[in-house]
Amino acid sequence: VTLVGIIGAGQLGRMLALAAAPMGIRCRLLDPAPQPPAVGVAEVVTAAFDDTDGLQRLAAGAKVVTFELEHVPIEAARYVSGRVRVAPSLEALSAAQDRLLEKEAFTRLGIPCAAYAAVDDAAALRGAAVKLGLPIRLKTRFAGYDGRGQRELRTPAQVEDAASIADAGGLIAERVVGFTREVSMIAVRGGDETMFYPLVDNTHRDGILRVSRAPAEIDPALVDAARDYATRLLDAFAYRGVLALELFETTSGLLANEFAPRVHNSGHWTIEGAVTSQFANHIRAVCGLPLGRTDPYAACAMVNLIGREPDPQSLLRLPGAHLHRYGKAPRPARKLGHVTLCPLDPHALRQAVSMADAAADDP
Ligand SMILES: Nc1ncnc2c1ncn2[C@@H]1O[C@H](COP(=O)(O)OP(=O)(O)O)[C@@H](O)[C@H]1O
Ligand SMILES: [Mg+2]
Repeated sequence: VTLVGIIGAGQLGRMLALAAAPMGIRCRLLDPAPQPPAVGVAEVVTAAFDDTDGLQRLAAGAKVVTFELEHVPIEAARYVSGRVRVAPSLEALSAAQDRLLEKEAFTRLGIPCAAYAAVDDAAALRGAAVKLGLPIRLKTRFAGYDGRGQRELRTPAQVEDAASIADAGGLIAERVVGFTREVSMIAVRGGDETMFYPLVDNTHRDGILRVSRAPAEIDPALVDAARDYATRLLDAFAYRGVLALELFETTSGLLANEFAPRVHNSGHWTIEGAVTSQFANHIRAVCGLPLGRTDPYAACAMVNLIGREPDPQSLLRLPGAHLHRYGKAPRPARKLGHVTLCPLDPHALRQAVSMADAAADDP
């Protein structure tokens, strides 16, 4: 049987392993956590991401190694790539890890994005506030996710308050984008073919994805632009696998926010809603197998279950509901599961959102 190694055994790794199984492809995952979500559906090696013994056990006999998170030490990925093929490329991984390299790649590739400035000290922060104009969003270059490691600075006093943080360095400041909505383009590249899922409409709360709807009802010219930007990234990084590009829709077109060199939360609806899920297509792409069609069967919506899960019975009673639980302990701001409504019933969506909100807000 074909064996695929996956760095990370969270929910994305688990959904990759579940998608691989019907094709006779086995996955082995590496994660430092004692009971990550993929436990129980695939073989999990418990070790730190930079543990060479763990990395060797992950790679042994694998056809290819991929990753389900971008916050993998680049040395770990490089170590593995000396033993077995790693996909997507290390270049894509390192650009996606560092918000500064990422923005520089957008700029070099002609992909529009918000004005930004590197912040290595307080003087650079003050300079950025002048150059970009307030409000700005100050973000850690490395290791941020789900809105963590970010704060918005609206006043000169807030800029001064952040001066000591800025002195620690490793930050980037971005102009705050007045977007009309957020969308994402999920693309997949195999050996010689590229396919695109429909553009997804995303709603966030506190920096965390809350609801995705697909296909987004949007000007087709913007869909073409999003495909073009994703293609530039795929080409630049000699890419293989699924890539997700998060974008802001503004009155003057799309601005890229960030890209993920992996399957993405805004693509979870494809499990039930598309001819081939993002997970199956990622496995196909990294294994060198033909890609599957990406067209949607129906309009779909996905609601994340964050912090605390609603009663599964109530969710499953909603028409068209498909429940995914990751087996994680409740914790504020933590993604514990999702429910996909496919085909989409607007009333069921409203109910799912209010159940998810009520559970999350329950003290
Ligand atoms: N420059 C910006 N202007 C306006 N909103 C932003 C900006 N940057 C981030 N956000 C908001 O915060 C969310 C999370 O930020 P993002 O850069 O995507 O980081 P993460 O890696 O945590 O997803 C975005 O989806 C968006 O809602
Ligand atoms: Mg994001």
